[in-house]
Amino acid sequence: VEPNLLHAPVLDWYEDNARDLPWRAPDATPWGVLVSEIMLQQTPVVRVLPVWHEWMERWPTPKALAAEQPGEAVRHWGRLGYPRRALRLHACARAITEEHGGEVPSDHDTLLSLPGIGEYTAAAVASFAFGGRHAVLDTNVRRVFARAIRGEEYPPAATSAAERRLAESLLPELGAPRWGVAVMELGALVCTARSPRCADCPITSLCAWRLAGKPPHEGPARKG
Ligand code: ADE
Repeated sequence: VEPNLLHAPVLDWYEDNARDLPWRAPDATPWGVLVSEIMLQQTPVVRVLPVWHEWMERWPTPKALAAEQPGEAVRHWGRLGYPRRALRLHACARAITEEHGGEVPSDHDTLLSLPGIGEYTAAAVASFAFGGRHAVLDTNVRRVFARAIRGEEYPPAATSAAERRLAESLLPELGAPRWGVAVMELGALVCTARSPRCADCPITSLCAWRLAGKPPHEGPARKG
């Protein structure tokens, strides 16, 4: 598929269908984006929203969180699950405060060097908070590309170099952050893991998986 054929329909769809989420441009600070991305990794949006708001009020900056004991971060993690993420955010806040003057770094590789920040989070923060041109490969984005381009129902269990190259080749020269969040939203709302709403999809006429008759995933059952 020629990448430019995907850009306009997905971006137009996003314009009309995006959820209004407080960590998205232009509202959030880089710290707000970073906290949201860690919280959203294993927890659905509706459960993240109240806890994210509470954290932003309580700790509006990395410095504010860094001044607390780590246990306070866990205590205010609510019911998000996987509470080690709270400790990682706390360690991250201390590193930002001690080594980066209290400002969330804008550079992908610097972000990656922080405790608790992996490839996904580094790319998401560099892109969504700072406008960088990075492929942001979460499970929703990987599923959209697996279907639309590779013609497979689900992506491989772990992110492959081929997926990364594909996603990078699809990045528009301008507006990569909006493209990334638009694909993510398409995967979350339309191109869902089970029962995708192909009738509502802006790229259904180009989708390799649909054109192949939606063959089921081969191999062991999986959820994503
Ligand atoms: N917007 C930016 N990143 C997001 C995410 N991980 N989940 C939902 N919406 C987002």
